[in-house]
Amino acid sequence: MSAQIPSTMRAAVLRDPAEGLRIEEIRTPHPKAGEVLIKVAACGLCHSDLHVLGGAIAFPLPAVVGHEVSGQIVEVGPGNEHTGLAVGQQVAGAFLMPCGQCDACAAGRDDLCGPFFELNRLQGRLYDGTTRLATLDGDPIAMYSMGGLAEYAVIPSTSVTPVPDDFDVVSGAILGCAAMTAYGAVRRGADLRSGETVAVVATGGVGSTIIPIAKSFGARQIVAIDVSDEKLADARALGATHTVNSATSADVRAEVFAVTGGRGVDVAFEALGRPQTWTTALDVLADGGRMVPIGLGAGVQTAPVEINRTVRRSQSILGSYGARTRQDLPEVVRLAAAGVVDYRGLVSRRYPLEQVADGYAALRRGEIRGRAVVDMSL
Ligand SMILES: NC(=O)c1ccc[n+]([C@@H]2O[C@H](COP(=O)([O-])OP(=O)(O)OC[C@H]3O[C@@H](n4cnc5c(N)ncnc54)[C@H](O)[C@@H]3O)[C@@H](O)[C@H]2O)c1
Ligand SMILES: [Zn+2]
Ligand SMILES: [Zn+2]
Repeated sequence: MSAQIPSTMRAAVLRDPAEGLRIEEIRTPHPKAGEVLIKVAACGLCHSDLHVLGGAIAFPLPAVVGHEVSGQIVEVGPGNEHTGLAVGQQVAGAFLMPCGQCDACAAGRDDLCGPFFELNRLQGRLYDGTTRLATLDGDPIAMYSMGGLAEYAVIPSTSVTPVPDDFDVVSGAILGCAAMTAYGAVRRGADLRSGETVAVVATGGVGSTIIPIAKSFGARQIVAIDVSDEKLADARALGATHTVNSATSADVRAEVFAVTGGRGVDVAFEALGRPQTWTTALDVLADGGRMVPIGLGAGVQTAPVEINRTVRRSQSILGSYGARTRQDLPEVVRLAAAGVVDYRGLVSRRYPLEQVADGYAALRRGEIRGRAVVDMSL
């Protein structure tokens, strides 16, 4: 089986934010205990990568970024006897890779996995304390999640889920971050109830995916708020009942209150991570409302919260990071397979690996509707 796996592979390597990504030939990794190797079919381009590529969020370099992938399992490491995973399966891989061993993982809170933060998010390693990636000379290369912008990627088996045979595997790359994060925000962060009203502030790759999921949970009204009329038109097609362009609106709060009978929304999702989008999300909340922020700031950022309104109106801020991968990724795959999340329709552009930098540049300019993916077959 290993004989078919080449000893080297192409990967998008970040050595210096000033230079950007370069395609390099590096050693093909192999899985250790509790891990699998996938031949990457596609990797989505997420705004979180922009923070690392731009140097706003510190990460060890050199590194391979890219953290929402799909592909075929080509090698299974030891210790996977009870996972049901096997060579040949097509899978989706999640960015939030629980170690499966820590107290948080034991409690089912994969989203709070300590080793994921300490070893992977801070040091670019897996749970034996080393990275699987290396240059041809053997120098280590950090992994942001599984290092998905490469021809092959090692992923902990906690973090992959098989997809059905008739699945569009390339589009399925967006499940492991955009869709799983959206599901986590709705199901875990907001614990959305049927009949509740919702606003989504910033309807990019993650925010727009919240819309069909909130609809499937029974949201009565969904107000999409963005600065792009194109993205708002897409939001409406995905199920938003109202849209507000916050760049041109004279008063976003007044517009949201007008369509919600003067109450505001029960749940406001914030999916950009900037002070002004936090303010918007808090401003459109009803009494007793929940604000669920999922946007990550470009480094350490703070947002103002009005103390007395939060207290007197019993409003909550419920941060939500990814989801509970082991429970939620299979459910996200099911929602996609069932047509609830139109994962194919959310993918608007496909780039070959060589043009990945163009893809991120377009994302930074705000040009990408839904999600762009790197398609390894191009
Ligand atoms: N919590 C998590 O687990 C998690 C997971 C993935 C991504 N993220 C974060 O979520 C955020 C969104 O990621 P994405 O990939 O969807 O980004 P994206 O670039 O696809 O979308 C950003 C959207 O924001 C809109 N926008 C820009 N300025 C705005 C403004 N002032 N008001 C309203 N909308 C505005 C853009 O038009 C675009 O639609 C990022 O901060 C990313 O780091 C968090
Ligand atoms: Zn992401
Ligand atoms: Zn853990």
